Amino acid sequence: MSKESLHDVYVDTLKDLYSAERQIIAALPKLAEAAESDELRAGFEKHLDETHLQVQRLEQIIEGLGKSPRGKKCKGMEGLIEEGKHILEEMTTPSAGRDAALIAAAQRVEHYEIATYGSARTFADQLGEKAAAKLLQQTLEEEAAANEKLTSIAENGVNREAAAGDEGRVRGEGGHIGRMRGEGAREGMRVHRTGTRSAARGNRQPPRSR
Ligand SMILES: [Fe+2]
Repeated sequence: MSKESLHDVYVDTLKDLYSAERQIIAALPKLAEAAESDELRAGFEKHLDETHLQVQRLEQIIEGLGKSPRGKKCKGMEGLIEEGKHILEEMTTPSAGRDAALIAAAQRVEHYEIATYGSARTFADQLGEKAAAKLLQQTLEEEAAANEKLTSIAENGVNREAAAGDEGRVRGEGGHIGRMRGEGAREGMRVHRTGTRSAARGNRQPPRSR
């Protein structure tokens, strides 16, 4: 790939991130409002503040290249946010279960961002854009931290409460199907924990491609 075309891919990726971040800024207040857990609401609000800063970094980088950050819509993020909206449409009552679903949706968003910032940082490295690479790395680390925070909120309270809700239903129903439902919730929790932890570990030291 010629350096010129790598530069084009780099600019395109930055514009994609800019669009993604602006969509997240529009969506996060709704997630914060919907969160039942105070810790989760505070987490969404903190990440909203961080996201404003991340948008400024992208503007600085893109405008430094003599380009406009606007003019591209990140379809991937549009889809992920759409999925988050569906949760709120389908689960209309605030609950620990709905919080668990919101956390899972937010973690999909974080992973998408982590992947894309990792690529952008690598392109910046390869193109010798040292200042930009540093800014992108900074954002990448914030996204990884946000993802880990969501994991810890899920592990320390929300998922456990959601699973306890299932246990309550199990006791109420008393039957085999009810019992299976409780087991399913616990199994889901285990998978969730393993997946997010190993991903967060991987993201803590994103591969550098020098
Ligand atoms: Fe972000």
